[in-house]
Amino acid sequence: MIGIRSAARVLGELRRDITAAHERDPAARGVTGLEILATWPGVHALLAHRVAHALSEAGVPVAPRTIAAAARTITGIEIHPCADVGDGLFIDHGMGVVIGETAEIGENVTIYQGVTLGGTGFATGKRHPTIEDNVTIGSGAKLLGPITIGHGAKIGANAVVIHDVPPNATVVGNPGHPVRVDGKRPEGPDADWVHLPDPIADAIKQLSRRIADLERELAERDGRQDPQIGEVVPLRNVRGPNPAGG
Ligand SMILES: CC(C)(COP(=O)(O)OP(=O)(O)OC[C@H]1O[C@@H](n2cnc3c(N)ncnc32)[C@H](O)[C@@H]1OP(=O)(O)O)[C@@H](O)C(=O)NCCC(=O)NCCS
Repeated sequence: MIGIRSAARVLGELRRDITAAHERDPAARGVTGLEILATWPGVHALLAHRVAHALSEAGVPVAPRTIAAAARTITGIEIHPCADVGDGLFIDHGMGVVIGETAEIGENVTIYQGVTLGGTGFATGKRHPTIEDNVTIGSGAKLLGPITIGHGAKIGANAVVIHDVPPNATVVGNPGHPVRVDGKRPEGPDADWVHLPDPIADAIKQLSRRIADLERELAERDGRQDPQIGEVVPLRNVRGPNPAGG
């Protein structure tokens, strides 16, 4: 059963969660720890999760899920009692955050509202993301599957990430792709998301060329001078170095 040691651990975690809110929320400047504890929904959700997780680890039935469900109703933040959450997580605003059962979160991670750490389907076993230390996940981002987000990475608001992210990378867009790694734009053939080979467009181009040849041939046979050949209009060029990301 849960004992004094577990309670002390939960209190220590709570203290670090409050410090994280103080350090990482610009709106928390000049606000006391007590006020943060009373009014920050991310802190409430984490406190509930710390307790639910400790009870779950101690094998207590029903209570962990009941606590998680109550916390979800009050804060709009759903954290599965089994999710492994490290120290110093800061959930800003919170509403709409979902953290799945097998998600693992390292230390000093920041999560904004509407973030999902979810699975991709009905797989069992490890099926949710692993988030390493010092990662920031922007509002509305969806991180799906048993992927790993490397330490120090930044996930842009509304990104949909289904592949591993290297450490210290900035990933944006859908599908999420790195636009910075260690502060530099990624280079090399794999990094050019705009000019990837497009076999379908190439096939359509070939077909329209052949149709134009046939139309010309038919017009010549019929003795028409000015054949009406359908024109293929090229796609509008998108400006900027990386329209997929911008
Ligand atoms: C991704 C983010 C963390 C910025 O990271 P960064 O490493 O400083 O990256 P930059 O600002 O230099 O942007 C890098 C590129 O990604 C683009 N980008 C940035 N954020 C983006 C986003 N959310 N979606 C799509 N593209 C984005 C930039 O336009 C830039 O494009 P470029 O390579 O063509 O110049 C930030 O833009 C973001 O989305 N933060 C989330 C904040 C949030 O959710 N706040 C909610 C508060 S309530």
